[in-house]
This record gives sequence, structure tokens and C-alpha cells, in this order.
Amino acid sequence: MSTPLRLGIAGLGTVGVGVVRIVQRHAALLETRTGRRVTISAVSARTRDKDRGVRLGDYAWEDDPVALAVRDDVDVFVELMGGSDGPAKAATEAAIRAGKHVVTANKAMLAIHGQELAEAAENKGVSLRFEAAVAGGIPVIKALTEGLAGNEISRVMGVMNGTCNYILTRMQDAGLDYQTVFAEADALGYLEADPTLDVGGIDAGHKLAILAAIAFGTRVDFSGLHIEGIERITIEDIEQAADMGYRIKLLGVAQKTGRGLEARMTPCLVPDTSPLGQLKGGTNMVVLEGDSVDQIVLRGPGAGEGPTASAVMADVLDIARGNTVSVFGIPADQLAAPEPAAASAPAAFYVRMSLIDKPGVLAKIATVLGDAGVSIDRMRQYGHTDPHAPVLIVTHKTARDALDRAIEAMEGTGVLASHPVAIRIEDV
Ligand code: HSE
Repeated sequence: MSTPLRLGIAGLGTVGVGVVRIVQRHAALLETRTGRRVTISAVSARTRDKDRGVRLGDYAWEDDPVALAVRDDVDVFVELMGGSDGPAKAATEAAIRAGKHVVTANKAMLAIHGQELAEAAENKGVSLRFEAAVAGGIPVIKALTEGLAGNEISRVMGVMNGTCNYILTRMQDAGLDYQTVFAEADALGYLEADPTLDVGGIDAGHKLAILAAIAFGTRVDFSGLHIEGIERITIEDIEQAADMGYRIKLLGVAQKTGRGLEARMTPCLVPDTSPLGQLKGGTNMVVLEGDSVDQIVLRGPGAGEGPTASAVMADVLDIARGNTVSVFGIPADQLAAPEPAAASAPAAFYVRMSLIDKPGVLAKIATVLGDAGVSIDRMRQYGHTDPHAPVLIVTHKTARDALDRAIEAMEGTGVLASHPVAIRIEDV
């Protein structure tokens, strides 16, 4: 009879409990699929005396996740505590040193320490797997490292923070302002303990940094990412973008251009008829483009007990089957140093302005744009009762620094009632 694969689970929050439930509910199915029983030897969490709605009495308890990670009866350390450093990293390192496989959902730890952890795991000959770290239940890591392994990847894009997508689509559907919907999301428990991880684009940035490393064979480079959150998106932006045929998304894009590797997580406009434009609520979407496959679109739940535990179990089952793959798709010591592009590829931009409504104002705006080499594609002025005219411009493709020069010159014309808002329109 084959030996069981024995798990030690650190972290019994939503995802940890979800993993325990799957192991208990699907014991026979998992054994049939892998040829091995998958069992839990021990668990660990911050608080022991808490009813988590799941049976834990059969498992040993460890207060210290490091002690759990190195137990003799643990083959796979399942790290579901979170946090880039601290106990999660200490226990992961201890597990690898002790020759245990590691499965984690910890995007922050991988985005920041992924290279050193991958080298440690590969030197030790153990797996370090993290399907649950990116886009919850969507099997995007597997898609990139395995399903698309025969492609040269040109671009990876995605909406990978469900909370931001919920906030933006709720603002649009209900016509509510950012602060009101943020408060709603908070009351619904959608926000991370530190909400800036969500609305500041950091959580999604961690995920994009991981995907970019796999897609382009580079070391994970979270610090090289350009990140902007959604805090400054107004209901006016959402409504006026919609009027022009666009939706605003917190969109991650990593692409190889002649200038180097571009990676950014920023609010972008996408056509309202595109799959990304149609994405509503807390759902995630990842778009992968390769030279042979062309484009594939993966859509699914990006968080929650079932979806995230499903992704954790995919990694556990691969280990049970003996499937191995380098941590980031190619051996860690062959990952290239990232070469960030000095400037982003030209794009069309949406520019929202509030102008002092008097003769000659639009001519001045058109002149500064023309002088900076920025061409206008579409322009619209809205009716208004106050002295300030809301004006929207969609530019033809232009370099961002040319647009920034034009906006700086606009400031000197004396016709602006407030600082213009410029948002990139992504080709999707
Ligand atoms: N807070 C994240 C989201 C889930 O809203 O998508 C965990 O990464």
C-alpha cells in the first residue's frame, strides 16, 4: 500500500478551514485521483479555543508554526497565515530546510522573497507551490507554467483584486461615490485588515509581480512595478468614461516591449464590450497572450473559502502525484534579472478637465495638446449650471510623458478649475 501524504496546516482562517473541509469531504476521491491518501497530521493557528465549524480533534496542535513545519509526521507544510515576513516566512524557511514541500497562498511573501525561497526549495529538492496566491480559484499558475509552456508569452493582464472590482462596479451600477461604496465594502467584510492592500493596488501588485516572473522568466520584482490604487477614482470618472464607451478597472499589465519589461497595476479604461469591461463584482479575470495560443481569458472567483482552498488542494495533489515543476517555471538560478522599461508604450488616454467657461478656453487646451504632440481623437463638453465646464478628451496613442508635458502647460494657461485627471486606455 502506498504511503499517505501528510499535511501540516498553519493558519485556520477561511482558507485553512476550507482545506480541512476538502480533505475530510473528499478523502476517497483524493486517494483515487492520486493513488495516495491525503491526511492531516497537525494544525496550528493563533487561537486554539475557537469554534471553526470543522472537526480538528484528530489532529495534533502546535502553537508554533515553525514547530509544525518541521514535524516528522509532516510531508507538506501548508502555509495559510499570510504576511510577507514574520512567522509565515520563518516557518516556510524552516520547512524547506527540513526537506518538506511547501504549499502557500501567500502572495506578499512570494512577491518580496520569492527568489530566495525558490532557490532554497530547489537546492533542497522540494516543491514550493502557490496556485492560491494569484487570482484565488483560477488555475493561472498552472496555465502559465504548464498549459502555455510551449509559448513565448507577450502579455499578461488581469483584474486580480475582487474588492476593487466590487467597489468600481458598484459605484457604476448604483451611481454612488467612492467613500460610500468603500464603507459598504468594509461593512460587508470585503476589505483586508489593512485596506490599502486592496484599494492601494498592493495586493493585486503582488499577484502581478508573481505572474510576470513566470511569464517572462525573470526574478520576481515587486519593487519594479508601477502601482496606483483606486482611491482617486470619482463617480464622475466612472460615468463619463461610460459615456465614452469604457469601464474603469484596476488592471495589471505586464508586457515585453522593445523598451524592456513593463509592469504596472493601475486604474485603466477598457472597452465596455470587452470581457474585462464586462467583469462585475468580486470576480477576477486573467488574460494571457502567447505567440502560439494567441489569447486566453480565465475568469473566476478570486477569493473565498472554497475557491482558494480548491487552488491549495491542486498543489497538494500535484505533490501527491509526484508532479514537479520549477517554482517559477524555470530553475530559479536561471531566472533573468528584470530589465524594467524606462517608459511605458504609447497609449490612448482619457483626460477629464474642469474648465473656466469663457471664450477661447477650448482653443487654449487644443493648442497646448498640439504643441506637446498629443492628438485629440474625441472631445465632449457636458452641460453645467456652475461656472466650470466639464470637458472630456480621448487622445490618440501618445507617450505618457508628452501628455504630462501638455497637462503641465495647461496649468499655466489659467483656464483650469482643477487638476486634470488622465487615465490610460488599455488595448484589450
Ligand atoms: N483581498 C483580495 C481581493 C483577496 O479582494 O481580491 C486576497 O488576495
